[in-house]
Amino acid sequence: MSAVMQARDYTWPPEGPSRAPYWVFEDPSIYAREQRDVFRGRNWHFVGLEAEIPEPGSFKSTHIGDMPVIICRDESGTVRALVNRCAHRGNLVCSKSHGKTEEFYCVYHAWIFSLQGDLKSAAFRRGIRGEGGLPADFRLEDHGLQKLACTTFCGLVFASVVHDLPPIEDWLGEVGQGIQRVLNRPLTVLGYDTQRFSANWKNYHENPRDSLHANILHTFYATFGLSRQGQESALVIDSSGRHQYFYTKVGTDKPGTDYKEAASTLRSHNEGFKLEDPSILKWTDEYGDGINIQILSLYPTFVLHQISNSIAVRQLVPTGPGTTDLNWIYIGFADDTPEMTETRLFHTNLAGSAGLVSMEDTAVCQMVRRGTSGSADAASFIEMGGKDLVSGGSTKLSEKGLRNFWHTYRTQMGL
Ligand code: FES
Ligand SMILES: [Fe+2]
Repeated sequence: MSAVMQARDYTWPPEGPSRAPYWVFEDPSIYAREQRDVFRGRNWHFVGLEAEIPEPGSFKSTHIGDMPVIICRDESGTVRALVNRCAHRGNLVCSKSHGKTEEFYCVYHAWIFSLQGDLKSAAFRRGIRGEGGLPADFRLEDHGLQKLACTTFCGLVFASVVHDLPPIEDWLGEVGQGIQRVLNRPLTVLGYDTQRFSANWKNYHENPRDSLHANILHTFYATFGLSRQGQESALVIDSSGRHQYFYTKVGTDKPGTDYKEAASTLRSHNEGFKLEDPSILKWTDEYGDGINIQILSLYPTFVLHQISNSIAVRQLVPTGPGTTDLNWIYIGFADDTPEMTETRLFHTNLAGSAGLVSMEDTAVCQMVRRGTSGSADAASFIEMGGKDLVSGGSTKLSEKGLRNFWHTYRTQMGL
């Protein structure tokens, strides 16, 4: 007797954005739908930095969702984004992470594409000795690489399959200010790494939006005072609810009785602890506003952080329902002194992929994934700071950013 497979009930819990059902993290059909509705849907996607493709002919391999993409600078210096898929039979036309080239050459059967993505030649197109070759109606201009919409903002490059999106400034809304604050001058690339972790991309997307966990999970922050609930801080969400950032000002602690009571239950409450070498805590207030931590998330897969003097962007690349790559690019500025570059690199010991703080984020995503395994029909509870999209003011003690994420996601996915 054959087993009867019951189709999953994709009804979202009636509480709406204050719940996220666990099937949304693990169901392969949801993953496939996301590739269409989110990654090939009406969103701008971060795909790299202008500083990574500084000259005509510079290119970088990247992704939008699980689709391979190339960004490059053409002969005129214009930034282009192309799908990295040969128009013949689908081979990658670019297999290097970065480099310089005059054209993209497909190794499989030698079709050659320009930096604009146009097909320049197809080997043996006219056959040999009157045999073989492509049909008489074959036209080079019909077989270019798929061209993506492409735009830039403060040195960040964004691309999309959709060609009639609003300008990037409109799409970012108020959260654009958070990018302009940090990326306020020409950038340089200090280094790269990739974390490959066993969780869904949305497990991680929730994490940097989750201003609540910062001082709780990350014991280093609270223990050594870099970020505490009693400090001056704020959470900014754009009017569409897609994007957000939050920030903290170190040294502005105003601990009241309620703070003391709550903090006493935290694992991160270690008042007696001291660092043998406190140099990791030193930082320069390079923006002159006292903000030592700003974490900014763009829907659906981008993070920009300033943590002390560490500045980095992170790009989520889903590789399946339960596996994700997190690509980090560590950033400096063209006018940095050698000492500032040293400080930025030193602070990656806090905020890099293996940093004392940041490594806990992917670790906890994997723990959540293990915790929710076998519980597809249960749901998370997201009511800190209220149940809806707008309540909670600008306090960081709120999961408002998560509710807004789930609202945006559900709208795009029709769930
Ligand atoms: S797949 Fe690229 S030339 Fe054949
Ligand atoms: Fe975190």
